[in-house]
Amino acid sequence: MRLRCAIPLAVLLGCAAPVYAQDQGFARSQSFLKTYCQACHQGSSPVGGFHLDRVSTPASLKAEAAKWGSMARRVHNGEMPPKGAPKPTVDELEQFSQWATQALRAAACAGGIKPGPAPIRRLNRDEYSATIRDLLDIHLDIGSALPADGGGGEGFDNAAETLFLSPIHSEKYMEAAKFATDFAAKEFKSRQKLLIAKPGPGVSEEQAARKILEALLPRAFRQPVPAADVALYVGLFNAARKQGREYEEAVFFAIRGVLVSPKFLFRVEPPNRTAAVQPVGDYQLASRLSYFLWGSMPDELLLDAAASGKLREPAVLKSLVGRMLRNDRSLGFAQRFIEQWLGTRDLVGTKKPDPKLYPMFDNDEELRSDIRLQPVLFFRELLTRDLPVLDLIDSTHTIGTSNLAKLYEVKLPVPRDASKQPRWMELPPNSNRGGILGMPAIMAVSSYPYRTSPVLRGAWILDAMLGTPPPPPPPNVPALEEAKAGAANRTMRQRLADHRANAVCASCHSRMDGLGFALENYDVIGRWRTEDAGQPIDNSGDLGPVHFKGSGELRKVLLDRKDLFVRNLTNKMLGFALGRGLTLEDSCTVDAIVEEVRNNGYRAQALVEAIVLSVPFRYQAPLPVAKPSAVPVPTKVAALQRPGERKE
Ligand code: HEC
Ligand code: HEC
Repeated sequence: MRLRCAIPLAVLLGCAAPVYAQDQGFARSQSFLKTYCQACHQGSSPVGGFHLDRVSTPASLKAEAAKWGSMARRVHNGEMPPKGAPKPTVDELEQFSQWATQALRAAACAGGIKPGPAPIRRLNRDEYSATIRDLLDIHLDIGSALPADGGGGEGFDNAAETLFLSPIHSEKYMEAAKFATDFAAKEFKSRQKLLIAKPGPGVSEEQAARKILEALLPRAFRQPVPAADVALYVGLFNAARKQGREYEEAVFFAIRGVLVSPKFLFRVEPPNRTAAVQPVGDYQLASRLSYFLWGSMPDELLLDAAASGKLREPAVLKSLVGRMLRNDRSLGFAQRFIEQWLGTRDLVGTKKPDPKLYPMFDNDEELRSDIRLQPVLFFRELLTRDLPVLDLIDSTHTIGTSNLAKLYEVKLPVPRDASKQPRWMELPPNSNRGGILGMPAIMAVSSYPYRTSPVLRGAWILDAMLGTPPPPPPPNVPALEEAKAGAANRTMRQRLADHRANAVCASCHSRMDGLGFALENYDVIGRWRTEDAGQPIDNSGDLGPVHFKGSGELRKVLLDRKDLFVRNLTNKMLGFALGRGLTLEDSCTVDAIVEEVRNNGYRAQALVEAIVLSVPFRYQAPLPVAKPSAVPVPTKVAALQRPGERKE
């Protein structure tokens, strides 16, 4: 179950939430349910098969956690009560869903920190590509030939729940393996890495092939490989020779077999069949680490550390984190994490600025790539320099290039005619470019392609930065008047003012619009502007009673809410590291990590270290005890099953 906590204005503003105090919370939740839900969810045939009796005791917070979670989510999303039934106010519904979320968390954490599930997962497209690259030492983007992976869990495409293997995948992976081995067979570097033995005087062809496979298999499968498995692939080699293939061709044929093996394509961790929580195996831990921070297979050093049994020592893990982040391969982590977390992948898709209005984005490939990479490289610098993650909100430095300097119209200290390489540089005072907020990529994905929207930008900050997304808009809200007669010379603020005056609309919009207004100085592609529709920009914003002007003061307001920000970042990164959606139990881990990061000056490496040292990252839960199926398997199906086959 995936829960996003809904936080009412009171919490967002940093003041204590007076309503729903813990002791009365449960009673209040019941009166909320009586008022708005009872009409349909009680009696002998409750609607949707859901009776409120199931959630009428405090013990149900644990026993019926999934039901409570779905109530909180459906109330937050405005789906329950359905259209037509008496509606709670936005404040009421947020109070209920926030209280339920926190009560659920407290109930789940009462039992201590638990590791949570460790699902089997296929290497996703990027991981597959990077693993082939490192295994065969070829520089080839093989992934582009594979089907794209959907996002799951905390919004990332490495989430196990989406990484099943369809027939289409199997076919494409077969093709990719052939392509990769054909390519490697022609590459000098790759041949050197793979063909470590040759048939020669005193060495038979089979012996040479065996040597080659013995070296390759443990790297490909990311753990020691029993002799029987090696024999399997030597068998492939022999079969290919018998069919008349040349020696080398037969070796690459066997390697192709390795690349389509489930042991290569999947990350399988042997299940924990004991009754207690256990550390994951040494080699599995090595893979968890390398797929988290490199998106690829473990290197020799990691495999050695696993072999020696040292990898599981916290001090060793900590020192490896720094080393791995400084390695070039961590760029892939920064890119996949940042672009999916902040939504900047959409810059080349649904959020692409309109080519007619912003031709420079469309025409200038260099500029486009600088814009897209800026937040990625910025984040990677925070990691490698071990700077505070709060620098994402505001910072004294940024990633600059000569193209970006031109777009910014800020005197960035980029030497003219210098190489166009992105560099880490200090910003001039009051540049309005600290942190991610002034970055063109962020300003573009929180706009419409053809105009800025304080509403979208505010919603983006609430969701991506603070992890407190506004409830989805109600249906049938009239769109803003676009370039209609008379609208052209009204500023965005004037156009939005109408619904800010309406109490129903204001219940959501007072939270979003006020944040977005402070960013109105940035146009769709992040250029600084002082006028909109021929009138000076009024960049005053507000969040409840807090008033501020411009992006500089907005950054301060966000820094005042740093705990929300860090918690959200931790949620995202833990979900990414574990490659799955977070569960309620994981929120206890998140609490512990946030505390650790706070105690370490919010350092970026402290965050990564705390994730790597966390219980879910290093430990494995016992296999759930299979409950005997209540429904007997029909004899017909049972008869069709072969012995030893399991019915899904
Ligand atoms: C006007 C009738 C009505 C009211 C009032 C109502 N619901 Fe529902 N509810 C339904 C219907 C119809 C379904 C089944 C369709 C669906 O799932 O959307 C349903 C389904 C549900 C489910 C999913 C059931 C399941 O087993 O997964 C939950 C949870 C739920 N409602 C919670 C609530 C809560 C909480 C409230 C009060 C805030 C509420 N409902 C008010 C009609 C209602
Ligand atoms: C339950 C929360 C909620 C309520 C209530 C609400 N909205 Fe919204 N509204 C949103 C969200 C969230 C968005 C951003 C939509 C998106 O992400 O695409 C939005 C977007 C909009 C937009 C588009 C802004 C733009 O730049 O084009 C308009 C216009 C709007 N709402 C008007 C209204 C009006 C008028 C009302 C009252 C009748 C209202 N809304 C009530 C949540 C709400």
